[in-house]
Amino acid sequence: MKVLVTGGAGFIGSCFIRLALGKDAGFEILNLDKLTYAGNLENLTEVIANPRYRFVRGDIADGALVYETMSEFRPDAIVHFAAESHVDRSILSPAPVFETNLRGTFTLLEAARTHSTARFLHVSTDEVYGSIEPPAEAAEEFPLQPSSPYSASKAGSDLLALSYWKTYRTPVVVTRASNNYGPYQFPEKLIPLMISNAMDNKPVPVYGDGQQIRDWLYVEDHCEAILAVLAKGRDGEIYNVGGSRSLPNIDVVRAILREFGRPDTLIQHVTDRPGHDRRYALSSAKLIRETGWQAKMNFEEGLRATVRWYRENTGWVERVRSGEYLAWYERNYDNRGLVSSA
Ligand code: NAD
Ligand code: TYD
Repeated sequence: MKVLVTGGAGFIGSCFIRLALGKDAGFEILNLDKLTYAGNLENLTEVIANPRYRFVRGDIADGALVYETMSEFRPDAIVHFAAESHVDRSILSPAPVFETNLRGTFTLLEAARTHSTARFLHVSTDEVYGSIEPPAEAAEEFPLQPSSPYSASKAGSDLLALSYWKTYRTPVVVTRASNNYGPYQFPEKLIPLMISNAMDNKPVPVYGDGQQIRDWLYVEDHCEAILAVLAKGRDGEIYNVGGSRSLPNIDVVRAILREFGRPDTLIQHVTDRPGHDRRYALSSAKLIRETGWQAKMNFEEGLRATVRWYRENTGWVERVRSGEYLAWYERNYDNRGLVSSA
């Protein structure tokens, strides 16, 4: 199977490529990635020499390039990860979010329609459902109530993708996963940011009271779900992918500090994120029923494996934390305002 992967140099896309090529000799993958601040070819060192892997640097919103890549490679399937993926960046700079997540997805859908691709798997997020009141868990037919420019752009691109199935019978399938964690995650998201700060014995910034709840999914479990949906999902359908481990942020942060033997006094409660969703909760019953997928990693073990990876890959951490990252850190955190220390 020839698969065009977009955003394959990012956190989840690179895991998917390593997993798919390692598992199945039938896969041939072309990775189309713009290499934004979040794209890193170091994540793909393991597969770079694999003859079944190719890389093209480019923007998914560049129609001519996408068309040319599709005409030349003729993929059986597109697995679409490329996105501006961070809520806080989408709040401070929404323009690139709309360019990539909406215009980029539109460009790929048009290419899939023209080239009659057999499957278009659009990778989305549980954030499209917005904050979920306890004790409910969002199923696929829940209303879309996105709160941030990021989640609104993902909800919009989900609807656009599904409209291509309804209107043109482009064989689209959408997955909506909960918060991912694991090796190679850029240290702007909660878990890798807390790990890299704790490693350096630096303060860890918790937004507001830290009682916001997220459902944690190990990145390899997510990629296994994508493989399962690629093989067994039904066209025009949506599949939630949850980790079944809901925790308040503050508990996750404390667990990370414990892993490094750091005191809770490193915790700084800082000004909350505007429009911050209080709780995400997801039902994966449909995915489990239709594909047999199950999350394998439990959170404690997954967190330990993640911490171990960051400890063993300090060179990777140092390289991604230079340059652009320092400017981002200053912009998002330096004027945030301290509410209280732990
Ligand atoms: P990431 O930010 O780590 O990687 C994004 C990748 O996309 C990078 O390699 C980047 O260079 C590339 N990219 C960005 N704009 C591009 C463009 N215009 N053209 C081509 N490439 C471009 O993101 P991630 O965490 O790996 O997320 C991947 C996908 O999974 C996204 O669609 C995201 O919405 C979704 N998702 C993420 C999570 C999570 O917890 N990280 C959870 C659910 C869903
Ligand atoms: P994040 O990893 O950005 O994912 P998302 O916003 O997509 O769920 O954030 C996870 C949670 O952690 C979210 O409730 C915001 C919170 N958070 C902090 O408290 N401090 C931080 O520095 C970051 C990056 C996130």
